Amino acid sequence: MLKLAREPLISAKEIDKRLDSLAEALKACKFDVILSALTGGYIFTADLSRRIASPHLHIAFIKASSYGKSTESSDKVQIYGLGDLELKGKRILLIDDILDTGKTMKALLQTLSEFAPVSIKTCVLLNKESRRITDCHADFVGFEIEDKFVVGYGLDYANDYRTLPDIWTLEEV
Ligand code: IMP
Ligand code: MG
Repeated sequence: MLKLAREPLISAKEIDKRLDSLAEALKACKFDVILSALTGGYIFTADLSRRIASPHLHIAFIKASSYGKSTESSDKVQIYGLGDLELKGKRILLIDDILDTGKTMKALLQTLSEFAPVSIKTCVLLNKESRRITDCHADFVGFEIEDKFVVGYGLDYANDYRTLPDIWTLEEV
């Protein structure tokens, strides 16, 4: 059975503070469009984008799905919502909740490059560097974390825990 750790790994207050500095760095890059990977990135994207607060910055959501009811990612990454995207000649900021093995990010970057954007930069709230099995990296990272399964602030386990304001480690009991 899995349960939440006794204390949050990253508190809502710490997230708040980090997002301020992250947004400052992103503002300087003058992106045309944020592409956000649902579902895990929804709170991060909302909180970050309103800090960037640039009138002509567009937002679009895609869905990348590689997880079932497990804490291990499956090999097949399915991507939905690409149909009506206009990305040709655009400077894209791709946002996801967490960079783990990198399979999801790799699949997203490969697919998005087919839309002939000018550039694609990546931003994740959390980076588990030690888990990487692809050549993917994030250009902007909120927090580096250890190899632990985490939930809250948008991140889920089988769709539970997403609405918790802090980030928690999920532990086996
Ligand atoms: P990757 O393809 O292995 O890099 O996994 C990336 C995706 O798996 C993320 O977008 C998350 O949706 C999910 N994921 C990876 N690690 C965690 C975690 O610790 N908690 C919740 N979701 C995770
Ligand atoms: Mg995800």
